[in-house]
Amino acid sequence: MPGGRSRARLLGGDLELFEAIRRRRTTNGPFLPEPVSVEHQRMLVEFAGMAPSHFNSQPWRFVLVDDKDIIEEVARISGESMRRLMEEGTFWRRYRPYFRFSEEEMEERRDGIHIDQLPRVLKPFRRQIFSNTGQSVMNRFGVPKMLAEDNRKLVAGSPLLLAVLLDRTEYRPGELSGFYSVFGMGAAVENVWISTTALGMGIQFVSTPMEIPEKWQEIKTLLAVPDDLELMAVYRLGYLPEEKRRPTIDWSSHQRKRLSQYVFRNTCAAPEADAPKMPPR
Ligand SMILES: Cc1cc2nc3c(=O)[nH]c(=O)nc-3n(C[C@H](O)[C@H](O)[C@H](O)COP(=O)(O)O)c2cc1C
Repeated sequence: MPGGRSRARLLGGDLELFEAIRRRRTTNGPFLPEPVSVEHQRMLVEFAGMAPSHFNSQPWRFVLVDDKDIIEEVARISGESMRRLMEEGTFWRRYRPYFRFSEEEMEERRDGIHIDQLPRVLKPFRRQIFSNTGQSVMNRFGVPKMLAEDNRKLVAGSPLLLAVLLDRTEYRPGELSGFYSVFGMGAAVENVWISTTALGMGIQFVSTPMEIPEKWQEIKTLLAVPDDLELMAVYRLGYLPEEKRRPTIDWSSHQRKRLSQYVFRNTCAAPEADAPKMPPR
């Protein structure tokens, strides 16, 4: 589309934007210990606030947490939640449909998580980790405790946490406004996520406390969340080290579906072709 391309050139910097979108990732390894500069912290929340929202309601709120004591407390709660979810088997039961066990399965589906990085003791039980036997083997080898400690350390070693909240006058689950505010929040978070890439930073959900209501309440109390706000998510952020080590269990997969698996042309009856047709010369 020549018109589109020349306009993009006029805007300048477009290639960096496309590159940041393509390179955006979830970081599940450690960050550098150095603090995130206040300038960068402000940029992240400024870009978040640039997102679209229904009637420009801007229903999102953010808490930037760089206080070491609070970060360590969130880390403790996160680690504890991880241990419980793993020991009780909740995690595996809840997320079974997203795991893939071979390159071939991953290549065919092109979604979910390819579980190819496991603690050595578990490798022989790779396919059984979702069964009762797998669960007891994991508990016997102390896997929940090990993963909980990994998780605690990762969070505690993060120089910055970002809590995302919604204004409860907008966030009314079950109503259109509830959907719209979550939609807007997603756009705001994506702005943060892409910006971290451009700033040499990484970001990851601190999600385990969210899965256990009393643990989530502990985080709300710690962050002094008032009644008119709903705590929606907590992220850990920091600058990325040059060298990346894969964590004990690598929950990330960067595979993406082919266009024909998620895009249609004109109606849902016609999947988009994978290779774009070149215009006739
Ligand atoms: C709503 C939502 C929840 C997610 N929860 C977690 C999570 O709990 N822990 C985590 O490490 N990543 C989480 N992720 C990140 C996804 O695992 C990740 O985006 C996906 O595997 C693709 O990897 P990528 O972000 O590196 O491209 C979440 C992402 C979204 C949008």
